[in-house]
Amino acid sequence: MLEIETKPEEIPSSWEELDLSELSGTLMVVGSSDVGKSTFSRYLFKRLCTIYPRVAYLDGDPGQSTLGPPTTMTLAMAENGDNSFPPRGRRWQAFVGSVSPLGNMLAVLICAARLMEAAQKAGAQVVIYDTTGLVEAARGGIHLKLAKIDLLRPKVLFALQRNQELQTLLLPLRRKSRMLVLEFSPSSSAQRRDTSVRKAHRAAQFAQYFTNSSQLQVNWPQFAVLPAPRFNLHRLVALEDADGFTIGLGIVAKIDRIYRQVVLHTPVDTLNGVDVIRVGDLLVDPVTYEDSPLTRKY
Ligand SMILES: Nc1ncnc2c1ncn2[C@@H]1O[C@H](COP(=O)(O)OP(=O)(O)OP(=O)(O)O)[C@@H](O)[C@H]1O
Ligand SMILES: [Mg+2]
Repeated sequence: MLEIETKPEEIPSSWEELDLSELSGTLMVVGSSDVGKSTFSRYLFKRLCTIYPRVAYLDGDPGQSTLGPPTTMTLAMAENGDNSFPPRGRRWQAFVGSVSPLGNMLAVLICAARLMEAAQKAGAQVVIYDTTGLVEAARGGIHLKLAKIDLLRPKVLFALQRNQELQTLLLPLRRKSRMLVLEFSPSSSAQRRDTSVRKAHRAAQFAQYFTNSSQLQVNWPQFAVLPAPRFNLHRLVALEDADGFTIGLGIVAKIDRIYRQVVLHTPVDTLNGVDVIRVGDLLVDPVTYEDSPLTRKY
């Protein structure tokens, strides 16, 4: 299991003063990059586990992911009263196929909906949804957040903002019924991470995920390959079950276009249960685990 940074957190008094006893349903955490969304989400999770026996955590960030490898979103359930993080209960994963929601917003929404449905079926009383930092209107961030809100109907929107950067999003939402908007300033301990730190974090996550990988041969005409069987060396793919959840990721290590076979570098050791091979939009080096986007879409 991927380890989570465990340095002590600074808990602002505004967090401690929150009355969580009445909160249930979907709780969505929004804010731009590095405002402390994931730190706050973990804090919420830990406290809510002391109130509810079935708490779910949705890591909705396919870039700086905390629970799963980058390009995926992960839902994890807490086991009765155990508030350790990462949660120790059941998990479901869904593949976005990229490390950014940009250009992949439909995939993000589908993954969120699918994982939220899993949480409901598992009887989660409360789900904490830690979202990506894409909030800028010009890049489609506001539309993405509004689409998530319309689709998932959170009971509470926790908004963390530094300098009014969420104003356009929050102004109409504050007037909406059936959703409480709770606003916070970021903790003074929240630190900005530049592109190279983010890239290194992803490489470390991938390296950990692909530990103990071996080669798995796939005759691709036996599977639904989506969106199409366009394989490139080092392209990242997901092996999915019939419900659309990710069984595991693989990196294309060899391609034989005549026999229509690929060899995947993957920790998955069998194709049993695989229904769909979902081709991502990312290349991952199987030695350094650094990722790079495909320069042209296929
Ligand atoms: N309350 C806090 N106490 C201590 N450190 C914090 C706190 N809040 C944030 N940080 C630190 O600031 C950095 C960014 O925090 P975090 O990852 O929670 O932000 P984020 O909004 O989820 O970022 P991203 O947009 O990349 O997902 C991390 O290194 C984290 O440890
Ligand atoms: Mg985060």
